[in-house]
Amino acid sequence: MRFIGNKELITIEIKNLLEKKGLLNSNLSFFDAFCGTGAVADSLKDSMNLIVNDMIKWSVIYAKGRLTSFNCNFDKLGFDPFEYFNSNNIIQKGFFYQNYSKGGSERMYFSSENAGRIDYFRQTIEQWKTEILISDYEYSFLLASLIESISFVSNTAGVYGAFLKHWDPRAKKPIVFQKVVAKESKHLNIEFHNQKIEDLIENVQCDILYLDPPYTQNQYGTQYHILQTLVLDDNPSMSPVTGSRPTTPMRSDWSKDYKSHILFDRIISKTKAKYIIFSYSTDGFLSKSFIEASLKRYGKKETYKCQKISYNKYKNFKSRGKKEHFEYLFFVEKKDEKEVKFESPLNYIGSKAKMIDELRCFFPKNIETFVDGFGGGFNVGINSKANTVIYNELNHFVKDLVESFRINDTYQYLLYMKRIIKKFNLQKENSTTYTEARDYYNSLPFSKRDPKLLYTIILYGFNQQIRFNGDHGFNNPVGMRWFNDKVLEKMISFSRIIKEKNIEFKNLDYTELTNLIDNKTFVYLDPPYRLTTGAYNDGKRGFKGWGIEAEKRLFKFADFLNKESIRFMISYVIEHKGKTNEELKNWIKTNNYRLIKVNEVVGIQRKEILIVNYDENGNTTFCNKEQLSKGRTVSRPIETVYSS
Ligand SMILES: C[S@@+](CC[C@H](N)C(=O)[O-])C[C@H]1O[C@@H](n2cnc3c(N)ncnc32)[C@H](O)[C@@H]1O
Repeated sequence: MRFIGNKELITIEIKNLLEKKGLLNSNLSFFDAFCGTGAVADSLKDSMNLIVNDMIKWSVIYAKGRLTSFNCNFDKLGFDPFEYFNSNNIIQKGFFYQNYSKGGSERMYFSSENAGRIDYFRQTIEQWKTEILISDYEYSFLLASLIESISFVSNTAGVYGAFLKHWDPRAKKPIVFQKVVAKESKHLNIEFHNQKIEDLIENVQCDILYLDPPYTQNQYGTQYHILQTLVLDDNPSMSPVTGSRPTTPMRSDWSKDYKSHILFDRIISKTKAKYIIFSYSTDGFLSKSFIEASLKRYGKKETYKCQKISYNKYKNFKSRGKKEHFEYLFFVEKKDEKEVKFESPLNYIGSKAKMIDELRCFFPKNIETFVDGFGGGFNVGINSKANTVIYNELNHFVKDLVESFRINDTYQYLLYMKRIIKKFNLQKENSTTYTEARDYYNSLPFSKRDPKLLYTIILYGFNQQIRFNGDHGFNNPVGMRWFNDKVLEKMISFSRIIKEKNIEFKNLDYTELTNLIDNKTFVYLDPPYRLTTGAYNDGKRGFKGWGIEAEKRLFKFADFLNKESIRFMISYVIEHKGKTNEELKNWIKTNNYRLIKVNEVVGIQRKEILIVNYDENGNTTFCNKEQLSKGRTVSRPIETVYSS
């Protein structure tokens, strides 16, 4: 049958891909999560174990009928149902006759005779099922065959959303009950589901996940409502003109811009599959750049593959003249969960986004609480595996920005951004519209300054940096960047993980965090560096600067943590442009802390070091181990410690 997005023509490409990767193997399971007509699963049924799903019931039944057709010999029924149906002319004036033909309505989906025949076929199949004369597979095979049969006589233009106003000559031909097209071979193990993939993904154990979601606003439920009613046989209420059953339960979020992005991120991250194959149209909501960024976040970069397939290669002579249509076929092998890294959607000066692997190597194991004391864009804490993460940032604008990804529904956030971009006509390098938006933001009283608005403006600013003047006004000039799909991917994945983790948000001076810390806590400190200059540490940006006194204060705090058997890590710079921070060197030496030289990271010019107060096993070699096991809460106010 004709079906929007049917992959019949490219099953060969999918099979070739599986073969090349050594995955066409009967020990592996292939999950066709949006099975539609089941074309892909059908082509693989004799090579792999299958799990087949679609949120639309008729699709699952149709696919089931095709996939299991080889097992249908109608022994119990005792005769060939196809011969039987085609040897009589019985009609029943049932639901289809009354509502989808001129027999009982104004609708012209079928001729009255054919609609009456459809009712007769449908009711007879149901009766055979009730009388246990046919198996579950045979039932699905007959319903799939009925779906196939009506496709030759429906008075519609390809889909079943609406009927034609005139009679197509095909619709006048008498319906023939014919077999659904299926590969003639036995199947291996098959499991069927009828759920939204987003509700199912975490419960499906499979080796290969195949995704072929809708890619336009076209809702399958609306376009094929007749087939759903045919399969469910439930006499639904109907819309007046098209006679459609209620479509809300059949609505898919994959047919919505941004919702499809959010779902894609979730599905790729949550699937238990080791391999992912993804079919998508070049005209879909998700851009190649978004898909690539997402697949590489959760997948091994070196395994990523994108094949662009031209449908013209497969088209018959009739459709060859039409506009060329391309499909992508993506492949990736998933990373181990603990290797996945999330990146802040804020381009924060001094960001550790590129150093996460290095940092994680040196984090102690089994941390209960992770404190990101100078949280900034939150690239570090977000990647911690601790049960609780405390994000702290002195700059309340930055803290509110980061927290905004947690407290706002991501879809609503994106719609808001879209509205703002449209309202101010924000574009890369357009300083007039950018300045208008920025002035509007700065004109608002502090309590009314929405972080979502700030974030949207930031994306069009110079290097997407976050800079404030002495009055705490946002003052970055316009830039050459925009809200592109790489940022969108970062934002969506970050917004998901920040909602899933147990995170507390604080807007404190780091020294005030002591009340929240015990010695099962790990404190990560990434202060401004005295030898380098970032927009936040020149002392002129309306927030505290970072000079020698600030540095001494940090040393004192670290010494205090050490005394309390609390493990810490400080990211810092010891040498920069020929200058050395002697005070720092002495402090490390005097206290016998461990200095770790971080390998140079591509894209980061400064030479970063780590200072920690624990050994390779995560034990604080400098403190009392008994205290560490007790997990005592630090209650002394920090200033007392400083003076002691
Ligand atoms: C592009 S078609 C799949 C075509 C199929 N590969 C074939 O060859 O026939 C997309 C399918 O996704 C289904 N679908 C839409 N949203 C879904 C969801 N959230 N979960 C599962 N299936 C969904 C639709 O009902 C439709 O059958």
